[in-house]
This record gives sequence, structure tokens and C-alpha cells, in this order.
Amino acid sequence: MLCSLTGLVAEAQQSMNQFIDDLMSRMTLDEKIGQLNQLPGDDVNTGNPLQTNIGQELLKGHVGSVLNVQGVKKIRELQRIAVEQTRLGIPLLVGLDVIHGYETLFPIPLGMASTWDIDGIKESAHIAAKEAGANGIAWTFSPMVDIANDARWGRQAESAGEDPFLGSCIARAMVTGYQGKLNSPDEIMACVKHFALYGAAESGRDYNTVDMSRVRMYNQYFAPYQAAVDAGVMSVMTSFNVIDGIPASANRWLLTDVLRKQWAFGGFVVTDYGTIGEMQTQGHSIADVKTASALSLRAGVDMDMCSRGFLNTLHQAFSEGTVSIQQIEQACRRVLEAKYKLGLFADPYKYCDVKRSEALTYCREHREKARQLTAKSFVLLRNKDHVLPLSTRKTIALIGPLAGNTEDIAGTWSFSAKPSQYRSLFTALKEKVGSRGHVLYTQGCNVMDDAYLQRVVSEGHGLVPVPRVDEKQARDEALRIAADADVIICAMGETAWMSGEGTSRTDIRIPAPQRRLLKELTSLSKPVVLLNFAGRATELSWESEHVDAIMNVWYGSECADALCDVLFGEVSPSGRLTVSMPKHIAQCPLYYNQLNTGRPVADTDPYRVFSSNYIETTNGPLYPFGFGLTYTSFTYSQVKLSSDTMRKDGKVTASVEVKNTGSYDADEVVQLYIRDLEASISRPVMELKGFHRIHIPAGETRKVEFVISPELLMYDRPKFLPDGSYSLDTMEKVIEAGDFHIMIGANSKQVSTATLHVN
Ligand code: NOJ
Repeated sequence: MLCSLTGLVAEAQQSMNQFIDDLMSRMTLDEKIGQLNQLPGDDVNTGNPLQTNIGQELLKGHVGSVLNVQGVKKIRELQRIAVEQTRLGIPLLVGLDVIHGYETLFPIPLGMASTWDIDGIKESAHIAAKEAGANGIAWTFSPMVDIANDARWGRQAESAGEDPFLGSCIARAMVTGYQGKLNSPDEIMACVKHFALYGAAESGRDYNTVDMSRVRMYNQYFAPYQAAVDAGVMSVMTSFNVIDGIPASANRWLLTDVLRKQWAFGGFVVTDYGTIGEMQTQGHSIADVKTASALSLRAGVDMDMCSRGFLNTLHQAFSEGTVSIQQIEQACRRVLEAKYKLGLFADPYKYCDVKRSEALTYCREHREKARQLTAKSFVLLRNKDHVLPLSTRKTIALIGPLAGNTEDIAGTWSFSAKPSQYRSLFTALKEKVGSRGHVLYTQGCNVMDDAYLQRVVSEGHGLVPVPRVDEKQARDEALRIAADADVIICAMGETAWMSGEGTSRTDIRIPAPQRRLLKELTSLSKPVVLLNFAGRATELSWESEHVDAIMNVWYGSECADALCDVLFGEVSPSGRLTVSMPKHIAQCPLYYNQLNTGRPVADTDPYRVFSSNYIETTNGPLYPFGFGLTYTSFTYSQVKLSSDTMRKDGKVTASVEVKNTGSYDADEVVQLYIRDLEASISRPVMELKGFHRIHIPAGETRKVEFVISPELLMYDRPKFLPDGSYSLDTMEKVIEAGDFHIMIGANSKQVSTATLHVN
């Protein structure tokens, strides 16, 4: 009987141990090594797959797990081969990147984070698990919890953004949403990734070098991974980057000292795609495959994703004495334990029920939930003269490459998406407006000037590219329909795979042909609403001065209907940014929880010599972390503390009153930030330490309270010795006496502050 996410009650633990002891006593060395090998199918491409006949490899005992195989019948057949035709009948573990849903697609993770709705995020993960689990998938490579400060990095799309506190809340929610108690096919194994620091790739270029101090790792990057571990995540994926010059998959300090010894992780570690092979001369150049495999196993890796390094070399490495039988067996045991806890030995076909697949996949209930959460994710950035919400009794010109499109609407990492069953914004709008008004539509422009790029970012991921148009003709048509309209909606931005893995950009503005058209449309003296489809923070400096309304949209299969809910005011927008939006790309990486520096310049202050600023641009973001408008307005009282002193082990309550002063009922996300003013190392200017998403009807006031506990005031510090030297090998959590600023407000740049003295 299972008693918790990862733990088993003693009796069940004993039965599992006996079962695995017995099984392993019958396994040959090669069968044990086979369990450590994960091979790719070719239904989905998430790397550079080697030609693989999985059925044959299975028969040889070479496979413990597969990824990128799709279809419940196909997976059932592979499972049949594994359990009926291999010597020991060990079931196969089938994984897939189920990143923001299976066929019912929620907004991309950056959008889900923008809801700040932790219960909703948990529910979305549970729905994803239900659909994936009905389609043969026992293991999702999610959540990705890498802190992503750099908008150039395309994988910001898959992250929760730049904040470790919010990221930790989301990590916990997703792990519990996916795994539950693991006692039904509605629950699957989660995999937290990418351990570690993958989001700190230099210059935002994917797979690039990471070089980071321990202080920063512990204080700004590690928390969400650790939160996932504490929530019982059963697997961890390594990252592509180096840490201290050592590739993560071979980094023993990371995978054993931190992960297993400090955080007590009890599950198994899988590499990212091909990372063992990437240690060779043509890659990181630290080891050939055999040495890299041995290094990785010894560092703490249990499963090799797609390098075949473990499969092809561990036996020989064992004969040569570079790895021990205990190391191989320990990895094998961890993989078998995961299969056991998933219930695959009891019922290998647990996730392969065709009837469940038909009943659950993209069902009405899931779509309805997705629609609600998608509506909650939109971030209204600007709404001059209350252009939004719109009336349905108008003529609307709908223009842009994302307006009539279903291919891109689900967003990046949507491998099980079925675009043909989703609705385009044009279709949804027409239906919504009905006979009351009119919707005129044209594509209006190309996605990008470069036809090759426009094609390859879509085709490279199996999507049909947005059709090329003749720029002049398309523009003329756009201006023609705009002339007949009362309001212009531009659905523009990035197509699905302009963000995601391997999609770094050196220009984070809306692509050029779309901007050119947008400029023309804004010169018509008609209200223009920009729906900015984005998988990262976009640079919107020009738009923020010339476009009447801007709303950020983060994709999802139900995106079109959710947009109609918000555009016409049935739902007030309530998303808040979880990344800082820069005024200029050169500010990247830009994040609100920065250190102050010795020569700080305030966000909006003009240029000063010998100071930490830029000549051309002020320091602050265009739109800050935590920002988002709605159709109503809120006022905040000054923050109040129940006491302005607190003992290090005490508690204080901070509160504000928030009033809805407008005429729409709406949700507000009340945010708590803290600054430590007297620490022995430099601490950020502010850090998110709490938030409440609350509903406040028009005209009403709500009191919002936060308990300031010692944990919220702690940070990780190197161990200082009496002579002033310090050791980064021993980081310690401390709370130091002194003053703290307690800040509450609507976003990171709009807070009121009280000072708390801690003694
Ligand atoms: C590489 C990606 O970095 C990782 O996130 C993903 O889970 C694997 N490929 C498997 O597709």
C-alpha cells in the first residue's frame, strides 16, 4: 500500500525490496545495464534520433525505457513485447515531454505561471497526467523549473519565469498534480529538470556555458528543484550545461552531494538527451563515450537518455574496474523501484487502456478547465482609454499571422496537439460576435522577412508554416478591411516554435514585417488592440507608446475561446508577468531581484557618470515582474505590521487593505516582497516571499495578510570563519539580526514599505 508520493510504508517497502532483490538476483549484468538505457522512438523528434528498432532492441534486453513513441496501441504492443517476449518480462517505462498538457493544451508554462493560480496549475498537471496516462505515457519530463532571466533564451517559454519563490510553489504544484498518490492510471511520474542552472546559459544562447557562484546557485536557482524533490518528485533530469566546468551529467558534487546527500532525493536521475555523448571531443571535450559513461554513473546518473553510452560501454568499464557492480546495481535498483512504484509490475498495461484514451483525451471537462485557465493567463499590459473590453456590436478587423491560425495556437512543446480540432481566433470571434457585429479577417503580413526561417521554425517541428504572402498585396488588403472597421485586433508575435528548445533570439521584438504592418494600422486613428503571442518577454517599447491596448497571450488549445471571454469582458484579465519585460534587449538578462551594486541608479533616473547604468536607456524594465492590468482598478492601503520588531524565531503579520475602485469584479494578485538590509553578504533589492490571488467584487475592499515567519527572512551564506575567510563548500541557512523592508503591492515596482527590525 502506498502511503505518500515517494515513500512506502515499512511493510510495502519491504515487499518492494524483496521483489526487486529477487528479480535482480536473476538478472545478468547486461540485463541490468539494459535497464539503464533509454531509447527514442521516431513519432516525435526532440533531439537527433539514432535509427532504432525498439522492438528488436527490447528482445535483446537492451531497453529499460523509451521516449517519443506515441499512440496507446503502439505503446501497448511494445509493452507486450517487454513483458511477454523478454526473458524476465520487465515492463517498459514510457516517457514523453508532456509539458503543458497532452491533447488538451494549457498555456505554455510561462503563461500558466502568469496565472499565479497554484491550485489551477496543479489541476492542469493532473489533467495532463490523466490524458497522457490514458495514452500509454507513464512518465512526463516535466516540470521544467529552471530560473529563466534572459528573454533571448527560447526556453523561457517552458519556465515559470525569473522568480525562485513562485517557481518553487509551481514546482510543488506540478509534481503533486502529476504524481498524486500514484495509485491510478490518472497519475504518472514527474521529472524535474534541468538539473541544474540550465536557464543561466551565457548570452541566452541555448546549451551555452553556465558559470555561477555557489551563493547565487543556492539563493536564486536551486530552490525550485529542491521544492520538487521535497514534494516527492520521482525522477530528476540533468542539464546540458557545465557547472564548474563539469557537464551536469558528470558532476558528482551536483548529483550526489547536493541532490542525494543534502536534499535526500530518493528517486532516479536520467540524463538529458544525448548528454553523455556530448562530452566527447566534438562537444565538451572532456571524455570519450566510455569514460563519460563511467563518470556519469559514478556521479549519480541512473539512466542514459539516447547516448547508448551506458549500453555500449558499462560492461567493459566494469571489466576494467572503472565502475563497480554496486554502482550498476544501485542505478538498476532505482529504475526498477520507479517501475514498481508506478505499479507496472502489477499491471504493465495500466497506462494502455484504449477505452480510457477515447473517453478522456480532449474531453469537454478538460477543455473547459483549460479555457478558464487560459483566460486567467493573459496579461493586459496597456489599455489606453479603456479600449478593452470590446462590444460585440462593432465591425472588427482581425489581422495578423496568428489570427486565422490553428497550427500555432497550442504553442511550443505540444507534441500531441491536433491543430485540426482547435479553433482559430477568427472562427471563435465570428461565432462570438454572431449577427450583432462583423468580423473581417486577413493575414496581413508574413511572420518573418526571411522565408527560409519562417518555414524552418515550423517544419522543423512538424508544423505547417504560416503561408507566405506578397507583402504589398497583403498590406493593402489589411488597410482595406481596417478602413471598414471600428476597431482593429492584431494577432501577432511568435509562431509556436519561435520559442522553446533551441530557439534563442537576438531580437526579441515582434518580428519586422508584423511591426511594419502594425505601424501602418496604428496611423489610421482607429483603436488598435495588439494580442502579443509570445514565448518569452517581448521588447514592446514602440508598441507601448503607439498601440492602444496590448495583451500578452501564451497559446493553448482553447486560446481562441478564452480570448473571446476576455476581449468582450465576460472575464476580466488577471494574469501577471513572471518575467521582467525589458525596454531594450541589451538589458538582458533583466530581473527584478537583482543585487543593488555599490553604485546603484534607480529604475527611472537619468544617466549618471561613474554609475551602474546605460547611456541610452534607463535601468528599469518596460513592464515589471508581477505587473498586469485588469478592467477595474485597485487601490492599496499602506502596509501595516502587527509589530515592528520580531525575534529571530518569532512571527509578525503584515497586512494591507485592497479596494476594487472600478466597476468590474476582478481578481488581484497581492504580492509580498522582502529586502534584507543588514546581511553579511549583499542581498537582492527585493525578493518575492508571498502572494495571494483574490477575487474582489467592484466597490469592495479586502484585507490581505501575510505571516512573516523566520523562513521568509533566511538566506544561504557561505560559512565564515573567525579570521574572515569563508568556505563555499559549506553553505548555511541563516537569519541575521537587523532591518528588513516588508513590501506589499500590485507588482514589484508598486509597493508600500514598512521596516521590520529583527533581533
Ligand atoms: C531535450 C530537452 O532539453 C528536455 O527538456 C527533454 O525532456 C528531452 N530532450 C527529451 O525530449
